[in-house]
Amino acid sequence: MSHTPSLRELEQPDAFIRRHIGPDAAEQQSMLETLGVASLAELIEQTLPQSIAMGGALALDEPRTETQVLAYLKGLASRNQIFTSCIGMGYHDTITPPVVLRNVLENPGWYTAYTPYQPEISQGRLEALLNFQQMTLDLTGMELANASLLDEATAAAEAMTLARRVAKSKSNLFFIDEDCHPQTISVVRTRAEAFGFELLVDSVDALAQHQVFGAVFQYTTTWGEIRDLAPLIAQVQAQQGLACVAADPLSLVLLTPPGELGADVVFGSSQRFGVPMGYGGPHAAFFATRDAYKRAMPGRIIGVSVDARGNRALRMALQTREQHIRREKANSNICTAQVLLANIASFYAVYHGPEGLQMIARRVHRLTAMLAAGLERGGINRSNHRFFDTLTLNVPGQANTIVGRARSQGINLRLIDADHLGISLDETTTAETVEALLRCFVGDGHNQDLAELDRSVAGKESGIPDQFLRRSAILTHPVFHRHRSETAMLRYIKSLENKDLALNHAMIPLGSCTMKLNATSEMIPITWPEFARMHPFAPLAQAAGYKAMIGELEAMLRAITGFDAISMQPNSGAQGEYAGLLAIRKYHEETGNGHRDVCLIPTSAHGTNPASAMMAGMRVVLVACDEQGNVNIDDLRSKAVEHTADLSCLMITYPSTHGVYEEGIREICDIVHQHGGQVYMDGANLNALVGLAQPADFGADVSHMNLHKTFCIPHGGGGPGMGPIGVKAHLAPYLANHMVVPLDGPNPENDAVSAAPWGSASILPISWTYIALMGASGLRQATEVAILNANYIAQRLGEAYPVLYSGRNGRVAHECIIDIRPIKAASGVTEEDIAKRLMDFGFHAPTMSFPVPGTLMIEPTESESRAELDRFIDAMLTIRSEIARVERVQWSAEDNPLHNAPHTLADITGDWQRSYSRQEAVFPLDWVAHNKFWPAVNRIDNVYGDRNLFCACPPLEAWADDAQ
Ligand SMILES: Cc1ncc(COP(=O)(O)O)c(C=O)c1O
Repeated sequence: MSHTPSLRELEQPDAFIRRHIGPDAAEQQSMLETLGVASLAELIEQTLPQSIAMGGALALDEPRTETQVLAYLKGLASRNQIFTSCIGMGYHDTITPPVVLRNVLENPGWYTAYTPYQPEISQGRLEALLNFQQMTLDLTGMELANASLLDEATAAAEAMTLARRVAKSKSNLFFIDEDCHPQTISVVRTRAEAFGFELLVDSVDALAQHQVFGAVFQYTTTWGEIRDLAPLIAQVQAQQGLACVAADPLSLVLLTPPGELGADVVFGSSQRFGVPMGYGGPHAAFFATRDAYKRAMPGRIIGVSVDARGNRALRMALQTREQHIRREKANSNICTAQVLLANIASFYAVYHGPEGLQMIARRVHRLTAMLAAGLERGGINRSNHRFFDTLTLNVPGQANTIVGRARSQGINLRLIDADHLGISLDETTTAETVEALLRCFVGDGHNQDLAELDRSVAGKESGIPDQFLRRSAILTHPVFHRHRSETAMLRYIKSLENKDLALNHAMIPLGSCTMKLNATSEMIPITWPEFARMHPFAPLAQAAGYKAMIGELEAMLRAITGFDAISMQPNSGAQGEYAGLLAIRKYHEETGNGHRDVCLIPTSAHGTNPASAMMAGMRVVLVACDEQGNVNIDDLRSKAVEHTADLSCLMITYPSTHGVYEEGIREICDIVHQHGGQVYMDGANLNALVGLAQPADFGADVSHMNLHKTFCIPHGGGGPGMGPIGVKAHLAPYLANHMVVPLDGPNPENDAVSAAPWGSASILPISWTYIALMGASGLRQATEVAILNANYIAQRLGEAYPVLYSGRNGRVAHECIIDIRPIKAASGVTEEDIAKRLMDFGFHAPTMSFPVPGTLMIEPTESESRAELDRFIDAMLTIRSEIARVERVQWSAEDNPLHNAPHTLADITGDWQRSYSRQEAVFPLDWVAHNKFWPAVNRIDNVYGDRNLFCACPPLEAWADDAQ
């Protein structure tokens, strides 16, 4: 008799698990047969070391449906109260142009792409990022800009370290203007302490009494004052130091840019260019400097190069500086940055153009001037005489009363102290807001007529003295003029999107990156106003929904990893490493072991590991790996013995970056502990552990979790991300705190690692939703199927391409490395040729030459279906047969589809004199034609781009050439 389902079964509470996991039960079974095992349980038993397997299930709820989870989360969100924010301090409400909101921020074509390491299929976001750089150059008046950094405070810390790298001054003292935002001062203090720099936080009047290697000034100050920076800049430069300026991008539309005042570095947050405040992030910081410092620049720079046909093409310039090459010599540990948000800010500038930005800036300034005049008439004194959008008001003994009055009107002010208040206006401010503010300060009978106030201040930029008014033009490039109508804007965004391969087209099997499904339900909450429009320093009582959601997510992550405490502050994996290492450092200091500074790192580690160790003031000592790719335990032991007196910690990725569960992990952790060290586990590969093993159980003291890998935050074309860290109880007091919003748990005197208390809080609902939807059983299945998919690929490709490393029973973990070096030796075909040829099949390449040069690392994730895996495998096997033809000299080294890949429409519609057909070039397998992805350009010349470094939008003549 057929089974009659119960109501509970008909409700399908676990339906989402089947949406998230690619292969269905039957497909899983047939894949298991290919591997010669009967069940997933048997595969896991063969793969995961018994010594680390967790007994029992995760202490999490069972799965819920998408409807249930979103309804619950909406309930949490509705506990947030969204007030009109006049707090300022680097965060301002803004209007995301709806055409950008829907077609970029909410569009998987933009948010599911990866960092543009394969530029031929990334020209769209590379162009948007080049626009971001051009916008930065125009606004700041500088020569060279990057795209982008994690937040304004981190950018300040990067400015300080850049100054140390390039300044001629021998001083060890760095100066930070006390009128900078407090979170900026705190993040810089953290970094200075780790590097051993002396930091002076003081009034600029004290600057002349010191010799410094650099200084940061805020323009306008955190109190809103416009100061003449030129003499301060000259003072620092006279001491052979670097003058760095934190600036607000909207104010720069009206103010003389710091570059014209002589600044060496200009940075700030592009948040108010259309990116929601989101309770602190994610937002893109901009960073600009002199051309002479290009090799010392932190983060990524987009540059113009040429492709194989000599056409203009974009790429990430100076890629060899990427942290996995430079390691402890890297300029910074920035890996995941804020690409999606940089793109949104650049589209905001494209959408508004210079006239639009001027209207916005002038309107914000006009309203501020009206408010200033109204308050003055009402007898309220102001401490800043000149201003753009921020007023600091002297209200002796009245501050708390006025704040209370404002709150009752739904407005948040900046409470400076009992006698002072700050007000910042923004793009969303209206005349009604100004009116309400006048009532709060002066009383209901303020008697001010807004139209009259407008007339009284109009005709002059009344807060900005003439000498500070900007004279130079901005955004003169055609891209900021061509897309004014919504139709034109929509088509521009679409035309760029079409050039990029994202997860909505095909699998992106990048090892170590975990490009899994970013489900629509997970993405929907991030643009709910209850989450999006919250200022990070809003009173906690207004953020009850955030508090509950973050608290629940912390509990979920504790249950998954076994740690005792979680810090949500780090806004990328690499920042998690830095924050975790700082906690270790502080722990040693507090326990009388401040001299312990050696960080052991296996040679296979990701480049951010040594870069972060260096930033945390540690000495890196490398540990060898054996022929199977495992940590060489003998070498580890001897290094631990050698450094027993000064061992701080070991950084280890588990499962390893070689894609293997090392059997000796417990022993490895024990050795480090025996010698007084701590274990930092790089959690980039947590997708192979969730539900099967817990890092805190097998020896890790601290670990970061890349929420943008295992927990479904999309990569956004190179960010955002979140890298919260989990720690054991003994490290909990040493986690980052926040001076504006003190956190429960960490020592109150601890400084911050990020600008905002909970990092990029507005994307946390993505991970919360994923875990809630999957529940304990779904998460475990996801891990098991990730392992199944990787082993299926390893098995099916194994004969054609040697799998470099495997563990017990010849199994890999959740990814596998295939070795291209023997193929290259026999045929001359390189891993890069294979990567580019995969584009002709519509695939993004696996991770190239990391962690082993000359290899490809494939990570399919659990979300890819069997059909997609088979298509990828077919593509790789077809490529192998093409390589064989090169090996047999049926095709010459230059005239073959691998060497010439990727192929473009221009190739096949032009003159064709190749020894293979057009069909073979662009439709190498039948199914390719059904869903053809056309690379926008041919293979890009890396060397040309670096030799002729050009990092702005191509000049006007080049557009004329293109038109011809
Ligand atoms: C093994 C490993 N560690 C660290 C990182 C750095 O993480 P993030 O890019 O989030 O800074 C990565 C990033 O890909 C990684 O693969």
